[in-house]
Amino acid sequence: MKKYFIFFLLVVLQQSCKIPAEPKIYPSLSERGLVAEHAMVVSARKEASKIGLEIIKMGGNAFDAMVATEMALAVVYPYAGNLGGGGFMVYRLNTGETGALDYREKAPLRAHRDMFLDSLGNADPKKSRSGGLAVGVPGTVAGIFAVHEKFGSMSMERILAPVITLAKKGFIVTPNQAASLQRHRNSIIKANGENVLFAKEREPGDTFRNHALAATLVKLSTNGRNEFYSGETAEKLVKFLQEKGGIITMEDLAAYEVQWRDPVAFQYDDLRIISMSPPSSGGIVMGQIMKMIEPYPLHEYGHNSVKGIQVITEAERRAYADRSYYLGDPDFVEIPVKKLLSQEYLENRMDNFSFDHATSSSEISHGTIPGYESMETTHYSIVDTEGNAVSVTTTLNGAYGSKLYVEELGFFLNNEMDDFSAKPGVPNMFGLIGAEANAIEPGKRMLSSMTPTIVEKNGELFMVLGSPGGSTIITSVMQTILNVTEFNMGMQQAVSAPRFHHQWLPDEVRFEPNSFSEATLDSLRKKGYEVTVGESTILGKVDAILVLPNGKLEGGADPRGDDTAAGF
Ligand code: GLY
Repeated sequence: MKKYFIFFLLVVLQQSCKIPAEPKIYPSLSERGLVAEHAMVVSARKEASKIGLEIIKMGGNAFDAMVATEMALAVVYPYAGNLGGGGFMVYRLNTGETGALDYREKAPLRAHRDMFLDSLGNADPKKSRSGGLAVGVPGTVAGIFAVHEKFGSMSMERILAPVITLAKKGFIVTPNQAASLQRHRNSIIKANGENVLFAKEREPGDTFRNHALAATLVKLSTNGRNEFYSGETAEKLVKFLQEKGGIITMEDLAAYEVQWRDPVAFQYDDLRIISMSPPSSGGIVMGQIMKMIEPYPLHEYGHNSVKGIQVITEAERRAYADRSYYLGDPDFVEIPVKKLLSQEYLENRMDNFSFDHATSSSEISHGTIPGYESMETTHYSIVDTEGNAVSVTTTLNGAYGSKLYVEELGFFLNNEMDDFSAKPGVPNMFGLIGAEANAIEPGKRMLSSMTPTIVEKNGELFMVLGSPGGSTIITSVMQTILNVTEFNMGMQQAVSAPRFHHQWLPDEVRFEPNSFSEATLDSLRKKGYEVTVGESTILGKVDAILVLPNGKLEGGADPRGDDTAAGF
């Protein structure tokens, strides 16, 4: 009986989705994420999701859970979770009020425009990606304290207690984590020597304890935000950085401030999408792409069909070209946000698109052809028992950031300075090209692609999502939203579905491996698209929550990593 019912469901779904005849590699149509009634946390690690949820079970709200989850990720997922980095939060209260917090790193006061150029005036990526100069003034600790001060309902001591226990008692190293630690071990040793905690070889199943980080968290819990920005921790951090050739001073740390910002909001069909504003490019670029594709019937073209890929790719090409020219820190540069998101402007941008052949990126704007590198950041989504929602993306930039590890304090430092354009026209580690708007200036925030997002439908909370992935964050988040709204997928299915990416330059469409049919790829090649299918390329790692029609929450934890949903 069950078998017939599933068959019937497949037929109905197939018809309602108008899936074309060409075979597609879908995640199982029956794939469903964790469904919970009251509250949910989805993050890159089971331990962090559980701690966030425990805080909610103890009576805390989504913001208390944010603080706990953020710090738990610093313990259990040091690859991207951090005290030495920064991030962005978009929130929606159950009243419908929305807002955003910018706790992005800043350039030190002694930073200057040409600091990453060599003697010939060429950008030197080694300087902006590793060593002390690569480090931006960290914002994460200021971020969690700002969230706590504005919205917190539990004491910091209670929120941090389970995180401190986790750091002391340790967590189990997963196979993915052991592989990642092994992959980066030599660079970590090169940056810090043989005697640091992260120089030790780890096997899957090992218990990893970080007593130095536990001690730092105890100090933060007792002494508050200033411990990190003007206290003993600040002094140790500055001393460490100066030994490593950094230029961050006590004055830089004391001057660090978060910014509460208005998020970017736009309409896509019956959805209202609320996402991060500059200095992240996430909200604007996603808004541009979605407004450019809105007039096209993607649903009729079919999921990951040739026509669908073409429309999305061409909109991405045009939006990333604008990103590169217009976007930077709004406290330093004028950004024409209204114009960039206006219907008229975006309709004109797609004027020269044709289904017959690819537009060349050189027709959109000029640039050199850079390469791609890896991309490491982390995202978590939270909905509490009262319906408050929090969407947070946080980063050290590269894997384990600059690889500089402050042994005495127990955390890695970012290499976020690489997100500035070291020299206009020269790509950063994600192959993204920046212009004057994103040139280095003292105290300025570097442009980001982080896209923590909340979606409303009929004025109600509908989806909470975001992703790591450098330049591919924006397109991963967008495809996940489209999977739900255009292709009727559930949350887990939408997160698991294969993705593709284009970013203007390099002029290529990147596809996840073993997920797109050769017929689809060939058809795109024939139309002039440069198709790249990376062997082990994954695009984004989305952690999301969907409010189901019955009010329950479905988690989408990305199977590309150790990501896990916890709910009750
Ligand atoms: N460091 C990655 C980003 O901010 O987009």
